[in-house]
Amino acid sequence: MKSQPANHSPLRILHLEDSILDHELVKRELHRSGEALEIMRVDTLKDFAEALEASTFSVVLADYRLPGLTALDAWQVMLQKELRTPFVLLSGAIGESAAVAAIKVGISDYLPKEDLGKLWRVLERAIEMHRIQLEKEAADAELAQSERRLASFAEHLQDTIEQERAAIAREIHDDIGGSLAAVRFDLAWISRHTSDPAFLSHLGAASDMLTHALDASQRIMRNLRPAVLDQGLVAAVHWLATSFSRRTGLPATVRAPQKIEGLSKSIQLAAYRTTQEALTNIGKYANCTTVQIEISDTEGVLTLEVSDNGRGISAQDLAKTNSFGIRGLKERARVVGGWLDVSSQPGRGTAIILSIPLTQSASDDSGGHDT
Ligand SMILES: Nc1ncnc2c1ncn2[C@@H]1O[C@H](COP(=O)(O)OP(=O)(O)OP(=O)(O)O)[C@@H](O)[C@H]1O
Ligand SMILES: [Mg+2]
Repeated sequence: MKSQPANHSPLRILHLEDSILDHELVKRELHRSGEALEIMRVDTLKDFAEALEASTFSVVLADYRLPGLTALDAWQVMLQKELRTPFVLLSGAIGESAAVAAIKVGISDYLPKEDLGKLWRVLERAIEMHRIQLEKEAADAELAQSERRLASFAEHLQDTIEQERAAIAREIHDDIGGSLAAVRFDLAWISRHTSDPAFLSHLGAASDMLTHALDASQRIMRNLRPAVLDQGLVAAVHWLATSFSRRTGLPATVRAPQKIEGLSKSIQLAAYRTTQEALTNIGKYANCTTVQIEISDTEGVLTLEVSDNGRGISAQDLAKTNSFGIRGLKERARVVGGWLDVSSQPGRGTAIILSIPLTQSASDDSGGHDT
């Protein structure tokens, strides 16, 4: 809605009033304030609309009942013009319910004519309240915009991270993986051309170390770029659970359907990264003895729950300023139209629950990054 500036000098008042005598009384009362003001009287809806069209007013003052119209008709004209000038009723007795109804539709205030002595104060208050309201709306709009900016920045950041991870994974594959494979060929060649037991023993050790390095680079690569997602989310989560157990020695069970069809790449990636971060956190903080992962896609919602039976997570833990894991997951969930819940009790474990409604478009979209 447009707004007319509320506070400017002199104060301009549009007075909707059929009685010239009442208008003169109002003028006299307002001039007693000693403020510079201009007051214009109209008594038909047409003149009212034209006055608003032609000029800007600080406030509208309206009698309730005029021949052939009420102040509510004038209010409608203002609404149609998307004007938000403060609007005060100054009228003979109109009854409480009419006054309440008027304030409910947005009219600023009501003053009975017999209280004319209070008019200046009522107008001042209406103008001030209006100014505060506009300022609040501007601040709210500014806040909403800054929240939108922040959300899109976070989204951009996630995208950049995924692209960066994919690039590093490619480098490891092409560079390190390529070199290690070449070393393996050379070791094999040497072993074919020597029978010296000392050589063979060193070759054996070098070959073991090489296997270890190849495994490590494969593992790092998979973590960076979940190519394992090509086999579907369920397979990828099984792989995460197995490598978590191997790394930590903790049993991690996965309960999931064989396969979940039709998940978009971006949803799969969100679920995959959620599992990965939840498992990393469990390894770092939970101090637990068992981990459970459950995935389901019943009732059109993909649900992923990663729970442990460890020490639990507190509100202070979640509020740590330099912790971004769970915050990032919440943002990821939001981007794919879902949400993330953290449920925990001290000493009784933690559950990280990702829920994503699977609308047709969410499942069909093949968006997301080639990670
Ligand atoms: N499974 C868990 N059990 C107990 N505490 C946890 C668990 N997961 C997270 N926490 C606590 O919650 C905090 C916040 O976790 P979050 O993943 O957001 O950040 P972080 O792991 O500290 O840092 P980042 O993930 O940014 O490297 C952790 O520092 C830890 O204290
Ligand atoms: Mg973390």
